[in-house]
Amino acid sequence: MTEKPNKFAEFRAGTITPDTMQESDAADELQALAAAIEWHDARYHAEDAPVISDAEYDALVARNRALEAAFPALIRADSPSRRVGSAAATGFGKIRHARPMLSLNNGFSDEDIIDFVVRVRRFLSLNDTAELYFTAEPKIDGLSLSLRYEGGALIHAATRGDGSEGEDVTANVMMVAAIPKTLKMKNGNSLLDLPPEIMEVRGELYMDRQDFLALNVAQEESGAKKFANPRNAAAGSLRQKDPAITGSRNLQFFAYAPGEISTPITQTHSDFLTALSDFGFNVNPLSRRCSNVEELLAIYAEIGRQRAELSYDIDGVVYKVDRADYQERLGSVVRAPRWALAHKFPAEQAETTLDAIDIQVGRTGALTPVARLVPVTVGGVVVSNATLHNEDEIQRKDIRIGDRVIIQRAGDVIPQVVRVLTDARAKGSAAYIFPDTCPECGAPAIRPEGEAIRRCTNALDCPAQKLEWLKHFVSRDAFDIEGLGARQIDQFVQLGWVQRPADIFRLAERRAEFAELDGYGEVSINNLLSAIETRRQIGLERFIFALGIRQIGQATARLLALHYDTAEAMLTALNPMQDLEVSTQELIAIDQIGESMVADLIGFFERESNRLAVEDLLAQLTIIPPERPADDSPISGKTIVFTGTLTGMSRAEAKARAEGMGAKVSGSISAKTNFLVAGADAGSKARKAGELGVTVLSEDEWLALIAT
Ligand code: IVH
Repeated sequence: MTEKPNKFAEFRAGTITPDTMQESDAADELQALAAAIEWHDARYHAEDAPVISDAEYDALVARNRALEAAFPALIRADSPSRRVGSAAATGFGKIRHARPMLSLNNGFSDEDIIDFVVRVRRFLSLNDTAELYFTAEPKIDGLSLSLRYEGGALIHAATRGDGSEGEDVTANVMMVAAIPKTLKMKNGNSLLDLPPEIMEVRGELYMDRQDFLALNVAQEESGAKKFANPRNAAAGSLRQKDPAITGSRNLQFFAYAPGEISTPITQTHSDFLTALSDFGFNVNPLSRRCSNVEELLAIYAEIGRQRAELSYDIDGVVYKVDRADYQERLGSVVRAPRWALAHKFPAEQAETTLDAIDIQVGRTGALTPVARLVPVTVGGVVVSNATLHNEDEIQRKDIRIGDRVIIQRAGDVIPQVVRVLTDARAKGSAAYIFPDTCPECGAPAIRPEGEAIRRCTNALDCPAQKLEWLKHFVSRDAFDIEGLGARQIDQFVQLGWVQRPADIFRLAERRAEFAELDGYGEVSINNLLSAIETRRQIGLERFIFALGIRQIGQATARLLALHYDTAEAMLTALNPMQDLEVSTQELIAIDQIGESMVADLIGFFERESNRLAVEDLLAQLTIIPPERPADDSPISGKTIVFTGTLTGMSRAEAKARAEGMGAKVSGSISAKTNFLVAGADAGSKARKAGELGVTVLSEDEWLALIAT
């Protein structure tokens, strides 16, 4: 029996000149083109098995565009020219996490752990004798996955991505034997044992060391690239176009956290781990429940001793508050929960020679010295560069070119030079002299009194600063444009196509020139341009963060977004043509925003070239105001000041609750304050509130208000 030829595989672009065509014929052809192109995209991206040549494919896309140009009214909702490129570009779609996937704060010393426990107790207003349990579990060095089960069946799997949105890796995860496809209770099947209707399980996908070594042998034999460590091997094995390859890699999974759950099943994390195990997940056997700091540190030491013998890599121990209601109350700050801490293992060290010191110029002009090293393996990774931080550090450690040095690396942290082996130093070596001009543009590099960092004074007129600024602009937590990374920015800047961020949104005007570039076919141009198009709409906080202003990180960008609500309001408030005293005071009154941040913010907008660049950019964009938590709460949008001692909850918890319900918490009282919550011994603030006519609430009244 011969196989029936596929109608899409056979389909070719029409040749009738669009101008001479009937509208109905054009509509038919556009419909056929949309279906055919979609079919070919799937062959190419999902299956990695195109059935027509690039040139034939390009002809279809070009025909589609020509017809659309002649008949704009016929542009279809599912037109290939409108389709978002990002999903297709990597072959993985996106999945929005029902609840954000958080990361963890790190601790290194015993003091960090003691502080963590003290902080948790203080937040929860627990005295020293009140019971407080934690779990301690190994921190697996893999990649986190979120698995969603509905009615007990695995329906999708996503990577962590940026924490809000990850990649849809369902097809590949379905091939991983260590991940249950259905949730079944091991012991019995009574109704009570059924999993919740919706149950998301999070955990770490990893590869055993043995499998990693064997895989690298096979990679080498077949001439493929070797993986640097088991974690990269696990990530690479997951991100395969062919799920069968993922299936062949013997990936492992430890479950350790809930995502969305329709009905809570346990009241403690330790019970949740037991339930996970009953549902068929592997749960790390070294996890323990602990009741105090001493036990936490003991289990840390114990797991540290076992580390080398484990079949998989771990990089620390994670402590989690055990009670679910406590976790809920503790909540999270920006990206990490207050109720957990990763206690990292100490860094691994190695000895090598320092060949040279290069000076890199960063986004904000900082001159950062980088040590170029004779490559050496540290903890399974080849290291050839290390950061030297700043000029004082070089002087303090007396680091010289040609020295033998001890370097260390911990996890993802950039390797550092710990010390110099001075005994091995060559005679006649000279102390390193730090440059006082920018190595990239020659402008003076100045180090203000009392600061550690020397900076190029040329701002965005320095090519290096400009380049880094643009790279920051498109980075993952900023505009995050699929297919537009550091490499493409380098290229477009060199070509003179991109000078400032707004130019990115004008790249579509260069379609014809793109076609001349190596490595850009019709498909990749379309993907890139449509990825750029989708980013014309962007949240205010991302926008502010993307501006790359010194000291304005994601957390501050969010605070600013909540404060200003629109980009226009922010620009008006920070316009240097006016007296900025009021704006400054307003900003400083926001908790977590300090004077020097405000100075940097104002400094950024003082520079005319920056202001023009921002205005130019805004003309290209639609800015979406920040989402406010709980808009309908009675304190949403209100400004609250706490004073005196609260008895029911700590000041920190009160503040977090208020912010979580959409209020602003301020440290000082003014006419703009809506409520003053006065605990015991409230002093001058209560008096001032009286004078200003601000509503004063007792602690009980406050609790009643937030309970409504
Ligand atoms: S709990 C909110 N537990 O570490 C809780 N994470 O550095 C978030 N990780 O993104 C995670 N082992 O990929 C948790 N036992 C463990 C873990 C663990 C490894 C990873 C996870 C997370 C990262 C944060």
